[in-house]
Amino acid sequence: MIDPTATLRSEHVAIEGLLTVLEAMAKRLAANEPVPREDLLDAMTVIVEFTDRCHQIKEEDLVFPALSSASPMAGADMARRLTNEHRALRRLVASMRELLPRASATKTARAQLGKDLRTYTRLLREHIRIEEQTLLPEFDRTVGATERTRIAREFDRLEREDVGWGLHEAYAAIIHRLRESYGTLIADSRSAPVAVTPR
Ligand SMILES: [Fe+2]
Ligand SMILES: [Fe+2]
Repeated sequence: MIDPTATLRSEHVAIEGLLTVLEAMAKRLAANEPVPREDLLDAMTVIVEFTDRCHQIKEEDLVFPALSSASPMAGADMARRLTNEHRALRRLVASMRELLPRASATKTARAQLGKDLRTYTRLLREHIRIEEQTLLPEFDRTVGATERTRIAREFDRLEREDVGWGLHEAYAAIIHRLRESYGTLIADSRSAPVAVTPR
């Protein structure tokens, strides 16, 4: 069984890979250069299904509540702040999803989408940095072994029942393909095709 913080860290690496693509897309949109509609749709699928439904839900449903009870002051405060950030990110995603159908037709919609993608990337990168530097260390320090095992089991159940077997790897493959297309794949160990935890 994989420890919950190891799972989250590995998902952060995959998400950061996606963010490099979103940045490249935002640059092209700002320069009024074409971005294939399928690429935007693929990126949006990974944002909604992987970043939100698979990753942020694990944090909100399991990690934040466990941290809040193990660390009622500092931990609960972090959980509140990070939940609010998830909400802000979701609002931004909703706005981008609305813009998508018009992005191939109007210059204004393309420019707005580029702007939203840049904002989303900046917010999520900072969010992940805070989670890596404060949330996960506080979780490691305060949440006991029994609770961690329970959460790891719940992560597995969520993958099986809510995300769907094999989809985790499918999202990693989409990120890899987009990184290749947008030239953001740097030859390092963090860029392997399956950068998320294999299950
Ligand atoms: Fe988060
Ligand atoms: Fe996270």
